[in-house]
Amino acid sequence: MAKTKALPIYVLNGPNLNLLGRREPEIYGSATLAEIEKEVVAQAKTQGFAIKFRQTNHEGVLIDWLQEARTKACGVILNPAGLGHTSVALLDACRMLDLPLVEVHLSNPFKRERYRRHSFISEAADAVICGLHADGYVAAVDALSAMLKDRKA
Ligand code: DQA
Repeated sequence: MAKTKALPIYVLNGPNLNLLGRREPEIYGSATLAEIEKEVVAQAKTQGFAIKFRQTNHEGVLIDWLQEARTKACGVILNPAGLGHTSVALLDACRMLDLPLVEVHLSNPFKRERYRRHSFISEAADAVICGLHADGYVAAVDALSAMLKDRKA
């Protein structure tokens, strides 16, 4: 197993994701956020990374965490939830990251209502993963880890 690097990957989750498991499981899958966190931590460990995993229902808190990530994280995985479709302020915070950023959605927004097809965050993200339910977070860890290793090489 690889040695854990100094700075963690931040995995940040937006509004209503605290209710995963009970929230429209036919759309978002049956895993709870705590179960996803466990999988993400285990996968990151195999790649030599630690994880800081958080969820908030508040836009400003998410922005504070993105600002904090600038100096305290090596990369960010972000599920902005509904804020991805509405928040220019969240996009601005993502633009200031200067770190690899992977945007994740459990569902496939392109298969859903029209208003979900646009994400402000995608303008700043290095990669976007959607429609894989909880597996998307695990895929995001692998993708981010590859980006970070490429950066170092
Ligand atoms: C979501 C998709 C968004 O459209 C929705 O508002 C969410 C979750 C997803 O993970 O599929 O809250 O980001």
